[in-house]
Amino acid sequence: MLKKALFTLSTASVLAASVTANAADKEVNVYSYRQPFLVEPLFADFTKETGVKVNVVFAKKGLIERVEREGKLSPADVVLTTDISNLMKLVNKNLSQPVDSKSISEDIPAQFRDPKGEWFALTTRVRNIYTTKRDGKPQSISYADLADPKYKGKICTRSGKNKYNVGLVASYIANNGEAETKQWLEGVKANLARRPQGNDRAQVKAVKEGVCDLAIGNSYYYGAMLKKADQKAWADSVYINFPDQNGRGSHVNVSGMVLTKHAPNKNNAVKLMEYLADDKAQGIYAEVNMEYPVNPAVKPSELVTSWGEFKADSLPVYKLAENYASAQKLLDEVKFDL
Ligand SMILES: [Fe+2]
Repeated sequence: MLKKALFTLSTASVLAASVTANAADKEVNVYSYRQPFLVEPLFADFTKETGVKVNVVFAKKGLIERVEREGKLSPADVVLTTDISNLMKLVNKNLSQPVDSKSISEDIPAQFRDPKGEWFALTTRVRNIYTTKRDGKPQSISYADLADPKYKGKICTRSGKNKYNVGLVASYIANNGEAETKQWLEGVKANLARRPQGNDRAQVKAVKEGVCDLAIGNSYYYGAMLKKADQKAWADSVYINFPDQNGRGSHVNVSGMVLTKHAPNKNNAVKLMEYLADDKAQGIYAEVNMEYPVNPAVKPSELVTSWGEFKADSLPVYKLAENYASAQKLLDEVKFDL
């Protein structure tokens, strides 16, 4: 018995020694704006499959600035973030490098990755219009309708400075041009029930409380509210409406990933990025997150699927980035928040 225990112990020591020796080859460093509960299941599975350890720095802000400050010595290999504006921030600050991977290109449709391979989307989120159930039936409302005078005093939304709204306006410019977008924004502003404030969920809560009839908000928050005991009533007070089903389709923004310019563990980083784009990880991500997988072979979670199929705007996501500055300018010009 004792002999066997000793043998086991020495085998373990040898293994431990070899792991230490290879540690530098067997790890990858991630800076993540995405929360632990969303990405930890993915990293655990990746490590199980490949033996590559994932070290993660989680933060709500400052990670891109940190990569910039650390420069060539930055330990970061991969940055995970939400919103095309953050992905482009890395590219524009020259903190990214292109990835040329056949496997990723096959998994992620061209619409959802940078033409030069500097960033890749992993999930999409719809900017929905939630409509009150007080009127009894679901309504089909387009983004353009939000400027219709019949909705005067009926719309709630968060600040025009928020990236989700800037992204929506950028998509409106890409589809309709600046002049029309400015007119539209003036109309939307005139229809607001109150000054823009709060987060996306607060708008749905305001519908529940009778402050407004329409709320603008991202799709995954509907799922999040439904799953939270003290917020379920807010979600239950609205229908989820997918805008522009008879036109361009609903506006989607993304979460995604970037390989850093000075990635010290580039091979493992690309391996991780390929893993994240692949069917299995996309399935796990979609399930936990209540977002839509970018990989068309993977279905959204059961709950998200229950909201129904919809047509998404086919605008390539980089076009949002191109119009982002103009969108911010127009939102300022119409004094959207005042
Ligand atoms: Fe969000």
